[in-house]
Amino acid sequence: MRARKKKHGAERIAACAHLLIQDPTVLREDPQAPFAEKQELHLEIGCGKGNFACGMAAKHPDVNFIAMECVADVACIALEKAEAAKDTRPDNLRFLIGNAENLTEWFPAHSVDCLYLNFSDPWPKARHAKRRLTYRAFLEKYKTVLKKGGILRFKTDNAGLFDFSLEEFEAMGLPMTDLTRDLHSSPQNEGNVMTEYERAWSEKGFPIHAVTVHF
Ligand SMILES: C[S@@+](CC[C@H](N)C(=O)[O-])C[C@H]1O[C@@H](n2cnc3c(N)ncnc32)[C@H](O)[C@@H]1O
Repeated sequence: MRARKKKHGAERIAACAHLLIQDPTVLREDPQAPFAEKQELHLEIGCGKGNFACGMAAKHPDVNFIAMECVADVACIALEKAEAAKDTRPDNLRFLIGNAENLTEWFPAHSVDCLYLNFSDPWPKARHAKRRLTYRAFLEKYKTVLKKGGILRFKTDNAGLFDFSLEEFEAMGLPMTDLTRDLHSSPQNEGNVMTEYERAWSEKGFPIHAVTVHF
């Protein structure tokens, strides 16, 4: 996702500092430290402008959510969205500006219940396959931080990325359920919270592919 450099980005992020995990290394000690209540921990990687994280946090007060985004200017929009809604939702959402590559440096082993990958960058060129967030090296990291029996929920409009991902899950011997090539017409759509990309691509007529992967 390209984003123009946000004017006063640092100040705008600082204004939402209470929603931001400033030093992710604190998570190593206790990944629930940013939250008042210790409850299930869900992590979204590549949260973009934050619609999914804000929607899920509002819908599931009994879950703590961390939304990770590697582009600070994009995270700024998500933070401001969460800040604007802070009086109408439970205090169970925090943001982390960082790259999924560092996941195992920040999160203790087997500390996350559920991981979300929504409309991850497809990196269509074969020579960039290792950058895809469903490449097996990333799946190894997810396996480390997810609890035994933890799940990854993946959705995308991109059939090529979806097919590649299914092959990676299969190669890792990870069982899959709830596979659909048209999420919005399937029973799995019950309780679905749309992301910004999901709304845009489905309005253009693209079906949404989705799967749940068990670790
Ligand atoms: C195509 S956008 C989708 C955004 C959002 N999930 C949605 O569905 O609207 C992918 C997002 O993932 C972020 N991203 C890509 N690679 C990442 C990584 N390794 N770690 C964290 N975020 C990443 C990008 O900066 C971008 O904001």
